Amino acid sequence: MAFASRHFMRAASSAAATAAAKKLIIKHVTVIGGGLMGAGIAQVAAASGHTVVLVDQSEEILKKSTKGIEESLKRVTKKKFADKPEAGAEFIEKTLKNITTSTDAGAVVHSTDLVIEAIVENLDIKNELFKRLDKFAPEYVRTIFASNTSSLQITQMANSTTRQDRFGGLHFFNPVPMMKLVEVIKTPMTSQKTFESLVDFSKAVGKSPVSCKDTPGFIVNRLLVPYMMEAVRLFERGDASKEDIDVAMKLGAGYPMGPFELLDYVGLDTSKYIIDGWHSLEPNNPLFAPSPLLNKLVQEKKLGKKTGEGFYKYK
Ligand code: NAI
Repeated sequence: MAFASRHFMRAASSAAATAAAKKLIIKHVTVIGGGLMGAGIAQVAAASGHTVVLVDQSEEILKKSTKGIEESLKRVTKKKFADKPEAGAEFIEKTLKNITTSTDAGAVVHSTDLVIEAIVENLDIKNELFKRLDKFAPEYVRTIFASNTSSLQITQMANSTTRQDRFGGLHFFNPVPMMKLVEVIKTPMTSQKTFESLVDFSKAVGKSPVSCKDTPGFIVNRLLVPYMMEAVRLFERGDASKEDIDVAMKLGAGYPMGPFELLDYVGLDTSKYIIDGWHSLEPNNPLFAPSPLLNKLVQEKKLGKKTGEGFYKYK
């Protein structure tokens, strides 16, 4: 009897270990935040056959998000199904059917494989959300939490939950339906199984994943933001005009936009917010030093294209 029960215990624990070692196949996704990024993420997830719950703060915002998704799908299918409009219409209908909406993340998180957070870029607000969701999902141990943050530390968010091993970063790029890259971020606590599930999910939604440790800016922004700040410093010192710097980088480096055009496109407030955050983490890193000119433009509400003026003026 003792042998049988020991044998049973060993078999049971080995079955549990095998199950634990298996990565999670993600089918049901909850996207929190139906703004620019969340709507795009919901769209690509639904278009690739996942069921998606899109969560935001009000029905009004969600209505706007779903309308935006429908319009974006129409643009995509116009090209993809140019000679088969019926197949295109069927694709749109099927994709939209995969998306439902909710204003209460806590009520839907229990039936999800993956939660992707794409709310406002504020650590306290994100931590509060994850802490709350973690309480709703304790028995559904499989649920993975991921943040789409551009500049905050994933580890700090993971620490606001009890599921540090099932927490990672999924950094999509704007506009999500067009941009092929996803940075998959592994913290020191992210399990290999979670990491592989996130990589597989990124591939399943048609993206090319790359991986990076939880470091400021991951890969793309860690290279791009200091590059843009160096361009501002070059201009601030009077070494070259902003127009010449933009022309130089387009014609000399083959970049599609110059650094000042890119800063205006991204938003000067966003760039300032990122660099200020990194500067407070590493005050002695000269690449993360704030720029007086950038600060002045932000103070004057010259935030780039969105406000009609940044480094350049827009109609
Ligand atoms: P957004 O401002 O367009 O959308 C944020 C949405 O989150 C809004 O609809 C807002 O109502 C909602 N929201 C805020 N707090 C919420 C809460 N507690 N519960 C539910 N919904 C809430 O912002 P965007 O641009 O989509 O950015 C979202 C995240 O994605 C940020 O972390 C940002 O850093 C990151 N990101 C942004 C990129 C960009 O180019 N905009 C690129 C890559 C990442």
